[in-house]
Amino acid sequence: MISNLIKDLKPSATLSLATKAKQLAASGKDVISLTVGEPDWETYEPIKKAAIKYIQEGKTKYVPSSGVPELRRAVAKKNNLQIQTQYTEENVTVSSGGKFLIYSLMQSTLNPGDEVIIPAPYWVSYPSQVRLVGATPVIVNGDKETQYKLCAKALEKAITPKTKMLILNSPSNPTGRVYTKNELDEIAQVLKRYPQIIIMSDDIYNELVFSSKVAPHILQASPELSERTVIVSGASKAFSMTGWRLGWAVGPVEIIKAMTKFHSQTTSCAASFTQYAVAECMPDLGSYIENSVEILKKRMKMALEGISSIPLISAEPSDGAFYVWLDITQCLGKSFKGKAIKSSDDFSQYLLEETNVVVVPGSAFGLDGYLRASIAVSDEKITEALARFRSFLEQIS
Ligand SMILES: Cc1ncc(COP(=O)(O)O)c(C=O)c1O
Repeated sequence: MISNLIKDLKPSATLSLATKAKQLAASGKDVISLTVGEPDWETYEPIKKAAIKYIQEGKTKYVPSSGVPELRRAVAKKNNLQIQTQYTEENVTVSSGGKFLIYSLMQSTLNPGDEVIIPAPYWVSYPSQVRLVGATPVIVNGDKETQYKLCAKALEKAITPKTKMLILNSPSNPTGRVYTKNELDEIAQVLKRYPQIIIMSDDIYNELVFSSKVAPHILQASPELSERTVIVSGASKAFSMTGWRLGWAVGPVEIIKAMTKFHSQTTSCAASFTQYAVAECMPDLGSYIENSVEILKKRMKMALEGISSIPLISAEPSDGAFYVWLDITQCLGKSFKGKAIKSSDDFSQYLLEETNVVVVPGSAFGLDGYLRASIAVSDEKITEALARFRSFLEQIS
């Protein structure tokens, strides 16, 4: 009964693990889930109030498949202010979450056989979505030396006549690393030589950065790439609105129109009152976001300091988002209570069985030997998780 395409599709590892953690907690286990890709604080109060107001005013009907003009204008303006672009509402389309926008962009631009360059470690959904549209993911592994980012040399090596898209995600999920302006300059120099390549810039975490207001951008490095760059972002992370399902794409009008056509035949539109609420509040959320970043910074410091004194494990410094990228390569080949640790899957499974701490194995992000742990949990949970990590690692031999 099930199509071959869906038979071959793996469920999202992060969502599956988060569900497993919730089930274990519901069965009475003292679980600490570090799987979550969402803030543990509430949606900001002004957005909630505005959404209730719009529901009561009857803004509850279908709206255009491109999104309401108010939101499209607000999104264009935000990008223009943050990364010095010159977008108008014509450059913006809106739908149900960044994840769907990424899929919509792929459906609207890729043909079977096209290649998409994905720097690893990568966000779990990129390769699956590329495969869903019949295109081919080309994975380029990062390493410690490049801070797990794509460097210009590796990019150039991966390009073939079939390359149609490059995915950039800064700060990165899962490493939290941000591309510097210099690194983006070098990448842009390569891209300028290959005009067939569309750049997808996944900016979903670009305001959750620790040492500037917004992450440096490929379009600041090279404004002329705007003719073939599509920014994907949304309300989920910076506004803590994961369950509201609101995302947007910003790019060349031709691509934006194609995506809107796709939305018109699939989702129709994103929830109307959500769009009006975000459009109204977006310009005034600066202090709320700053506050969220302060919380994340404090927790990141706490997590990195805690990990630095635990044996056999180290944490990569992070520039943003809410993930700690843990290097467990020293544990591979060792064992826990007589059980061999051959992979990050083994490690995370034994950790869960022994301590009830749930983390995502690096294999889900295309790089074994690592774990992703979220700091979008309370300070108390981070402290307790660190204590459980320590006792687990002290038993590895
Ligand atoms: C890198 C990255 N891009 C896009 C998304 C999509 O977020 P949403 O669909 O909630 O807007 C996520 C969510 O986890 C993400 O981590």
